[in-house]
Amino acid sequence: MSNHSMRIVSGMRPTGNLHLGHYFGTLKNWLKLQKDTIPFLFIADWHALTSNYNQTNYLKTYIYELVVDWLSAGINPEKCIIFQQSKVSQHAELNLLLGMITPLSWLERNPTYKEQQNELKNKEIDTFGFLGYPVLMAADILLYTPKYVPVGQDQLPHLELTREIARRFNHLYQPIFPEPEASLTSEAKCPGLDGRKMSKSYGNSIYLKDSIEEVTLKVKKMLTDSARIKKTDRGNPDLCNLFTYHKILTPKNTQQSIREGCTTASMGCIECKEIFTKNLKTFLEPIHELRNTYINKKKLVQDILDLGCKKAQKEAEKTMNSVKSAMNI
Ligand code: TRP
Repeated sequence: MSNHSMRIVSGMRPTGNLHLGHYFGTLKNWLKLQKDTIPFLFIADWHALTSNYNQTNYLKTYIYELVVDWLSAGINPEKCIIFQQSKVSQHAELNLLLGMITPLSWLERNPTYKEQQNELKNKEIDTFGFLGYPVLMAADILLYTPKYVPVGQDQLPHLELTREIARRFNHLYQPIFPEPEASLTSEAKCPGLDGRKMSKSYGNSIYLKDSIEEVTLKVKKMLTDSARIKKTDRGNPDLCNLFTYHKILTPKNTQQSIREGCTTASMGCIECKEIFTKNLKTFLEPIHELRNTYINKKKLVQDILDLGCKKAQKEAEKTMNSVKSAMNI
């Protein structure tokens, strides 16, 4: 496992079940990457605490569900090192040491920090942990000295900070951290059923674990081109939320016939939704099938996490030895 150039590191917060937005924004990229890299994929439970430290009741359930969602989506535990952040204490140790060399101003000027301070006004997140969250993220990444970090656009400032921290460490002590590069997810974003961002808090999501009956109902209620009131009106697929989904899930030639049907008013929204539901079913069925092999098998899932944890610890320990030696501690 010494080939560092093959490594990638990524994490997700355990905050609830995964939906199509997560799948097409992140998981799909992971699925591709697991073919020819060594992915270190972790449940970022400490990160969940940075903004939700006062709501830990569901944390255990969410952690379990997140692993099950990953596995159901096709994340292969034989190819990926899947683990829980808080079980690899080196993340905390490196976080502490990197905290010593990170200027406060780097954290305060972080755009995500400012944005979230505004967005999460009803939460008390004026905490040391919240401000320092990018340092923890830097530790998460640098522990495994990966070449690439698959992240979404929103995480780019954090990755830049990781690179800056690595550079500072290498300059102050010894050059032990390669600067990781972002591997940006190129997939189209999957909007919510109402056209806004797909998010648990908006109640506009299709979850990977949703039954076919549930998704059929959700699609029926879905927003389409709001200017198309009657079937005889010509629609505009480029303004239609449903068509955005077709672009993600429907084969190209069918997309073309839907476009024609919609713009010439020969196909109505109901029929268009039926096509989509069928494609969604084809997409979800294998995921549900895999889910059945993991759900209610706590021991099997725990064994996967334990094994991943052991492998991660081993690599993290090696990095910590170099770090401590470079810092003379
Ligand atoms: N910051 C990411 C999020 O909030 C999760 C995360 C934590 C992460 N550490 C990471 C992602 C390291 C990639 C690499 O969603």
